[in-house]
Amino acid sequence: MCGIVGYVGDKESAPILVSGLKRLEYRGYDSAGLAVLHRNQLNVVRATGKLRNLENRVVAEPPKGTIGIGHTRWATHGRPSDENAHPHTYEGVAVVHNGIIENHLELKATLKGRGHAFSSETDSEVFAHLISEELKRGLELPKAVRAAITHVKGTYALAVVAENDPEHIVCTKDASPMVLGLSEGQNFVASDVPALLEHTRDVIFLEEGDLAVLSAAKAEVFDRQGRPVNRPIRRIDWTPMMAEKGGHKHFMHKEIHEQPRAIADTLRGRVLRTQGDVHLEGFNLEPEVVKGLTKVTMLACGTSWHSGLAGKLMIESLARLPVEVELASEFRYRDPIVEKSHLAIAISQSGETADTLAALKEAKARGARTMAVCNVIGSAMTREADFTVLTNAGPEIGVASTKAFTTQLVALYMLAVKLGRMRGTLSLEAAQKHLTYLTEVPKMVEDVLRCEPEVKKVARAYLGARDFLFLGRGPMHSVALEGALKLKEISYIHAEGYAGGEMKHGPIALIDETLPVVVIAPKEPKVAYEKILGNIEEVRARGGKVIAIIDEGDQHVPGLADAVIRIPSAPALLAPVVATIPLQLLAYHVADMRGNDVDQPRNLAKSVTVE
Ligand code: G6P
Repeated sequence: MCGIVGYVGDKESAPILVSGLKRLEYRGYDSAGLAVLHRNQLNVVRATGKLRNLENRVVAEPPKGTIGIGHTRWATHGRPSDENAHPHTYEGVAVVHNGIIENHLELKATLKGRGHAFSSETDSEVFAHLISEELKRGLELPKAVRAAITHVKGTYALAVVAENDPEHIVCTKDASPMVLGLSEGQNFVASDVPALLEHTRDVIFLEEGDLAVLSAAKAEVFDRQGRPVNRPIRRIDWTPMMAEKGGHKHFMHKEIHEQPRAIADTLRGRVLRTQGDVHLEGFNLEPEVVKGLTKVTMLACGTSWHSGLAGKLMIESLARLPVEVELASEFRYRDPIVEKSHLAIAISQSGETADTLAALKEAKARGARTMAVCNVIGSAMTREADFTVLTNAGPEIGVASTKAFTTQLVALYMLAVKLGRMRGTLSLEAAQKHLTYLTEVPKMVEDVLRCEPEVKKVARAYLGARDFLFLGRGPMHSVALEGALKLKEISYIHAEGYAGGEMKHGPIALIDETLPVVVIAPKEPKVAYEKILGNIEEVRARGGKVIAIIDEGDQHVPGLADAVIRIPSAPALLAPVVATIPLQLLAYHVADMRGNDVDQPRNLAKSVTVE
């Protein structure tokens, strides 16, 4: 999510670090910093806001030194501020970190007990403290880093410099990406290839648990057990634009494929399976308030509104609370009924959508308790709401939302379990079952992405269509709406999403042999499956083309459909996460094959901050 750059060589490191960070700036960050080492002395410069702010400080007072580490931050723990910007330092140790430390609260408490004082709200700072303790025990820097990470639960890409070892950068990773850049007399480390390309094209991608020790002369890599290993050196021939997209043709494609990781990050540290509970940082509704809630009102726009529709079923089913899903742009202009016993939830990727923000303010002013489900910490909605559940999807650059949607669904499911437990509508065993389902989602999403070749065939066959119809029932209604929205946003083909039962009240008139109808028909819930089979027959009878999204084991529908795309079977309420992914891919490939600007479709904006 965040960006890391490190340099060791014979040149002044600060300008190299800033220029490396610039190559990562396209993803949009909230603060940046660097730590440069000169004659056993750390010099740290940090600045909130755009990288230009850091650059201005560096230019005004250039920190001297030929070894250093830099970072651009996308906040997850603690608001964007100079103090929360990386590098974090403690007693001569400076660290930059990407990832999430799940047990940071326990670690901070233990360290505070041993006399440590913390200067930021971040989880990352604990690394500096843990490493400094190991150094004091007499370990050398690589061993100190290795020892420190044994205390940490979570994900990390970590680069460290220390005053007592002015010649080495030590870096290590688990789950978050990290790549070394090799060159004559100088070496680099970065979270992403674009930061390296102006200096070298010879890189080593570190593997899970690897630890690397970089000096100007060499780069050594050790595996999790501390044994030296030879990781292959790869020559990267990507253009800088390709590198930004991680080798994918478009950001949207990259982001579709990032979903298993993004969802895992949304769940990380939150699912307490044994206790049948969910830990949502900042959740501040007292048990009696939750018991006394009489309604949830979801406020959102666009794709986020669709996740609200799916979230409604989750909360109603697990917490037995009535939920209304409101288009934020409508809510703000009527005289809505809001009571103190209502919880208003603003759902937003950006946290800045003007209509959603205004609706949230309206609900708050009328006395509701408020929360935000949001991807951007520090955004307007996270400041306005009583508390926020972050989706942790990482920066989303493609205008058409993908990973933000599926992580919102997962966040809402966690919320539904939490509310269900607090309201006594979910037993411990039932909650444990739902939490087990949740932990299986990243793997399911990984599996469903394998349908891409099939989806491409369908895209090729139907890319000339004038209209598309998407049908779904129950939890798949929101998927049908989202599938249609994705397609029209980027392919410019007219598409409608409908609840299957409504087809006979209008769209059936459109069906002829030119109309592709995407029917989302997983086997769960059974009642929805049985009914949607009826819709398939109705489409066939009128010559429409049926593209069916079905469970992997379905033997029946393939005989009725013109094309099928198989997805892993998922529990009904979570199936929207899995079933949406082939539709994102369908929209993507149709748009790409039609030669459209997939990442920046005409007339649309990523974040609509005006009415
Ligand atoms: C714009 C974007 C959509 C997004 C909607 C709501 O229309 O193009 O992809 O779903 O805004 O954005 P939000 O940031 O509030 O989720």
